[in-house]
Amino acid sequence: MQAINASIGFDAKMWRQDIRGSLAHAAMLAHVGIISADDEAAIRKGLADIAQEIEAGGFEWSEALEDVHMNIEARLTERIGEAGKRLHTARSRNDQVATDFRLWTRDAMDGLAAQMLDCVKALVARAEEHAGTIMPGYTHLQPAQPTTFGHHMLAYAEMLWRDRGRMLDARARLNECPLGSAALCGTGFPIDRHMTAQALGFDGPTRNSLDGVGSRDFAMEFLAAAAICATHLSRLAEEIVIWTNPSFGFVKLSDGLTTGSSIMPQKRNPDAAELVRGKTGRMNGNLMGLLTVVKGLSLTYAKDLQEDKEGVFDSAENLTLCLAATAAMVRDMQPNTARMAAAAGEGFSTATDLADWLVRELKLPFRDAHHVTGRLVAKAEGLGVDLPGLSLEEMREVEPRIDQSVFDVLTPAASVASRRSYGGTAPENVRAMVAEWKGRLA
Ligand code: ARG
Repeated sequence: MQAINASIGFDAKMWRQDIRGSLAHAAMLAHVGIISADDEAAIRKGLADIAQEIEAGGFEWSEALEDVHMNIEARLTERIGEAGKRLHTARSRNDQVATDFRLWTRDAMDGLAAQMLDCVKALVARAEEHAGTIMPGYTHLQPAQPTTFGHHMLAYAEMLWRDRGRMLDARARLNECPLGSAALCGTGFPIDRHMTAQALGFDGPTRNSLDGVGSRDFAMEFLAAAAICATHLSRLAEEIVIWTNPSFGFVKLSDGLTTGSSIMPQKRNPDAAELVRGKTGRMNGNLMGLLTVVKGLSLTYAKDLQEDKEGVFDSAENLTLCLAATAAMVRDMQPNTARMAAAAGEGFSTATDLADWLVRELKLPFRDAHHVTGRLVAKAEGLGVDLPGLSLEEMREVEPRIDQSVFDVLTPAASVASRRSYGGTAPENVRAMVAEWKGRLA
């Protein structure tokens, strides 16, 4: 029973939140006259001493005492006697754990949101540096149209900015205090729930005691926001894996962020990127795990809910690592601009520009222009050249009205420069967007 029942093995992590919650509860109990001022002072002193004990590593956690709440309360009574036993008046472990867990999750959200912001800053800095650095843009991982490294970095800045927004939105909904819901139905003692909520930095108390002890959607939202962010990071990680492959050779990571092989002396493995990509799996799993724990659970508290914590702790810890690794890689990446520029011209990447030219200059309907361009691409492919490698004569065999000026639109540089539609890839757009970002981040 003890082995399956105890949560101290993982919930000791919440000791700070538990003490904080107890201090607020005791202060409120004294304020409304449920306990004496002397008792409250003794509790305050006792909890401060326990905090020191834990901090110093001298606290002995007992599995027999089940969880962090019972461990700390038992130690308090051991230290201060009778007053310690009064602390749990008008409180249950059900509202206590719901409160502690919200406090813990809120701290994690704040830390992660700050890290996401740091990542955005790193991306924007690289975008500024490389607003005009041409690279291939892909769909289906096949050459599509030339883009710039800066534009690519800003795409991730957008995603991470939304990830941060999602985390902060979740925080806003989390920020109501269940303390005082007691076991499930509230209490007959004249407690002041607004006072404890305020003391703990919540916007106010939860409005329904059954919901207060029985709901965990704040944790689900945290896990969802973490999983989505991790999923975004995994895409950048995968691109870093691809870009650092010597066949691509688009970017290099320094030795500090790669590992060697014990047998192959030439290796520079992008392990950090691979782990960011890989850890996304457990974060998605943690979300699914909690959704499944709570699915079909009748109101209110049941011990199933003790299974809410490990996934949240795990996602918080691993997303912290992933964000730190990603920010470091973004700052470290050394783009090989020559390789990227050369690749940007491969694969008939300016075919769309050619089709657009036919529409603009020869007034062809786009579908016809698409067809003519397809024939020009086939011709170039047959001759083993890229589009700018075709002679004007060869082009005219397909469409006699083509003139010399078509060559102006067939280079990657002309292609990116032309894409000035709002949100488009043109270096001048990217620079303007970087300026906008700097304003937003200031
Ligand atoms: N360790 C428990 C948890 O994490 C604390 C709440 C226990 N409540 C109870 N009624 N047994 O959920």
